[in-house]
Amino acid sequence: MNDFSPHVSKKILITGGIGFIGSHTATELINSGYEVIIVDNLSNSDIKILDGIEKITKIRPQFYKKDVSEINQLETIFKEHSDIQAIIHFAASKAVGESVEQPLKYYQNNLMGLINILNSMITYKIPNLIFSSSCTVYGQPKKLPVTENSPIAKAESPYGNTKIISEEIIADTIKTNKNLKAIALRYFNPIGAHPSVEIGELPIGIPNNLIPFVTQTAFGIRTELKVFGNDYNTPDGTPIRDYINVVDLAKAHVKAAERLLENSNSDNLEFFNIGTGKGNSVLEIIKTFEEVTNIKLPYQIVGRRAGDIEKIWAETTKANETLNWKAEISLEKTLLSAWEWEKNFRKNFENDNI
Ligand code: WQD
Repeated sequence: MNDFSPHVSKKILITGGIGFIGSHTATELINSGYEVIIVDNLSNSDIKILDGIEKITKIRPQFYKKDVSEINQLETIFKEHSDIQAIIHFAASKAVGESVEQPLKYYQNNLMGLINILNSMITYKIPNLIFSSSCTVYGQPKKLPVTENSPIAKAESPYGNTKIISEEIIADTIKTNKNLKAIALRYFNPIGAHPSVEIGELPIGIPNNLIPFVTQTAFGIRTELKVFGNDYNTPDGTPIRDYINVVDLAKAHVKAAERLLENSNSDNLEFFNIGTGKGNSVLEIIKTFEEVTNIKLPYQIVGRRAGDIEKIWAETTKANETLNWKAEISLEKTLLSAWEWEKNFRKNFENDNI
């Protein structure tokens, strides 16, 4: 760039950037030359993750401890940074089971957070949004693998409903604001940790998701893993999911940011399935974990968990071809990274009450 070319900033704001996927995305963006600012209310994460991002990238992103669902908390950020080119919006509550018990917390937090971000984009003329969506919008697909054109199902939980409603809010807002454009990434099941083991998944309390429960059981914090049902219509009776490495997932966000900042999107709102394209059952996950770690995992088959679907995995051609992105890290390496992180995290964060 010569002295006279307009200084095009590569500044990106990440909401929920201290969280599991947010921190890995911040890391990959910084390593790709972007300037990253993080806002997070630390309700479901630990500030030590910011130290981890700095250790990996040698850069400490500017951090604001704020709650995006409170609009008056956001003004400072946009007044201090008038050259933000994109917002990646992760900040949301994400526990399916909890959302059934506390629906209003989920609608308030997840929908108000998004509405505040969209209003801020209009007020401060920020053109690009990348939204953290989920395969949960498909419910139990009738046809597999599931494509971006597969029907959106009635949500099985308030959490899933907030993702469906959020996609609709974004679509309606873009229809009347021609300067806005967005990419919604529909994640499948994010798992694993950065190879440096400086950042990873930090579930607070008893984990809802499979992999943190597996690694905590392997570590001896949990006595045994409960396998929620083996009477599904799958080869071994246990549910099938598309487990994607969190670093691969983070790299999909870099590709989406490039697409929007270079204005190479073909529509002002695009959707992409971000998965491996392969399904694995719960028992296959257990077996693979045992093989790569040489640890026998104590588990018991119990009844089904309410709200679980039977099987889902992604058709990823659109992301592969349009985003020029593909999941590359194997399930074996991914499960090993989750285990390495569990051991490292226990050593370094052991005094915290997580
Ligand atoms: C995976 C499989 C369980 C725990 C949800 C959201 C999705 C995303 C990830 C946020 C299921 C089984 C689990 C356990 C088990 N959300 N399981 N014992 O429900 O597929 O997806 O979390 O990022 O949007 O929908 O993920 O990891 O909870 O469950 O048998 O102790 O593991 O029944 O079949 P899920 P999960």
